[in-house]
Amino acid sequence: MLLTEPGICADDATSTALLNCLIREVCAPEQQVWPDGAHLVARLPRAGVVLRTGLARPPAGPTYRLAPPYEEKRGDEWIAAPWDRLANLVAGELELATGRANPEFLTQVDDSHSAMAAILAARCGPLDDRYIDSEQSLVAGHRFHPSPKSRQGSPDDWLQYAPETRNRFRPHWLAVPEELIAEEGTPEAFADLEAYGPPPPPGHGLLPVHPWQFSLMADNPVLQEAMARGRLLSLGPSGTEAVPTSSVRTVYLPDADVFCKFSLDVRITNCVRKNAWYELAGAMALNDLLPPIFKELDSTFLAEPAYRSTTLADRRLFEGLGVILRQGIKGLPGTPLLAGALADPYTTFLADIPALSAPDSAQAWWDAYVAQVAPPVLRAYLDHGVVLEPHLQNVLICVDAEGMPVHAAFRDLEGTKLTAGRWDLAHLPARVAESLTYAPDRGWNRVIYCLVVNHLTEIAAAVADLHPSLEQTLWRTARKHFADHDHHPQVRALLAGVPLPAKANLRTRWSRAADRGAAYVPVPNPLTAPRPL
Ligand SMILES: Nc1ncnc2c1ncn2[C@@H]1O[C@H](COP(=O)(O)OP(=O)(O)OP(=O)(O)O)[C@@H](O)[C@H]1O
Ligand SMILES: [Mg+2]
Repeated sequence: MLLTEPGICADDATSTALLNCLIREVCAPEQQVWPDGAHLVARLPRAGVVLRTGLARPPAGPTYRLAPPYEEKRGDEWIAAPWDRLANLVAGELELATGRANPEFLTQVDDSHSAMAAILAARCGPLDDRYIDSEQSLVAGHRFHPSPKSRQGSPDDWLQYAPETRNRFRPHWLAVPEELIAEEGTPEAFADLEAYGPPPPPGHGLLPVHPWQFSLMADNPVLQEAMARGRLLSLGPSGTEAVPTSSVRTVYLPDADVFCKFSLDVRITNCVRKNAWYELAGAMALNDLLPPIFKELDSTFLAEPAYRSTTLADRRLFEGLGVILRQGIKGLPGTPLLAGALADPYTTFLADIPALSAPDSAQAWWDAYVAQVAPPVLRAYLDHGVVLEPHLQNVLICVDAEGMPVHAAFRDLEGTKLTAGRWDLAHLPARVAESLTYAPDRGWNRVIYCLVVNHLTEIAAAVADLHPSLEQTLWRTARKHFADHDHHPQVRALLAGVPLPAKANLRTRWSRAADRGAAYVPVPNPLTAPRPL
């Protein structure tokens, strides 16, 4: 089945992402937003500027469906406000609001805009693999991030590795003497992958390397010396192909049906994508804990059975070459699709599902969707003290031949945490235990942000793009899946309508805070039950 993509242009997508953030994080919390028929009017209160956007339908919960044209009020006129003007206005308002400048901000927005334009120019046609196509479909990226596609370096350096171009590439293999191999977990998992690599010299193991990362590390003196002295041997590009997935640094090797999560010393949205030593060790600890829990939840967490790197004496090398193996997708029921692809208004994944063609069946589809995604996330937290990170990029929804959701697979141990006090982590190094642990209230905020604000709200909005009259009904249906857990006070509060926490990506970028210290802002809660009186 071949799909045509609805029009996407870098200018509008950049503007929409900026305005989504501005409205959510600045204008709405400061009560400077007014729906006005087919428009939304928003004021930047300190800059004293008034903006106007198209509004597809009245807002439901935490999201507004904005649509171009984007305009600015000048006297009695509305004049066009292009993406770079909007970026300047946002920067000006934030500087006035925080009293701090951020000289990187406009460059990051500009970089993201150029990256998107380069991706659009280089994007090939789809192959006939729905799963892979879903991973590679996020051309505009995170809808609530000011610089969703920003990638350091020139597009010439990275376009060949960009999932959104639909390119594939061959990972590089290094041969590492056994005494210099660092690994944890189940080493046999690497043996399975090695079957697809070149035969290593006797006494060596294979280490797959992302070619982009290899070039970024080329000036590392310890690496240079090890290569020059033949301690690490380059065996060249792999015979097997790698498909970059939506996170860019994790690739899928279809022949071996395994993922490799590489380090990439590049900032993508909020983080430089490096596998820190404590994250490598933490992933192995979590990987041991989760299987019985997910068995009970009748759901899947994609296992990360092992990591490998080298013990050469340089932590940057250990982390920079550290690669995590992740279980593949062939054992999953039905066809997995990236949740983010279903939610993305620039794709047709949702519109192509037969059930989405009529309101009644669309409603049944959503019911099945929420039934697969919400209960495991809620129960993992409420019953087991496990904080998943079920945002749109970390969930695969498996659909049957008719496109109905039949299973959910969660992934990404780096973002998975345990609530403090629930688990005994005394056997782990202190830094590892610390990076795995979240205070219960912060953990709950993160679960609810990822599940409801980042994920279900966007899927519901995408369903409502097809059937606008359904939006309120969709939330009544979703509520029932939460109400099954209302013996927990946190869930009762959700149903009572307490505001939801939304991650403030714009403010976090502006303040250059680490992702773990990201700010949250309160947003309207679409799960609110009818008032008791
Ligand atoms: N709605 C979204 N929410 C969060 N991230 C998104 C969203 N849409 C796109 N993304 C992208 O997905 C990635 C999310 O980062 P995350 O830390 O979950 O993944 P990762 O740890 O790099 O890799 P993996 O998910 O393969 O383990 C980022 O690259 C981000 O830009
Ligand atoms: Mg992820």
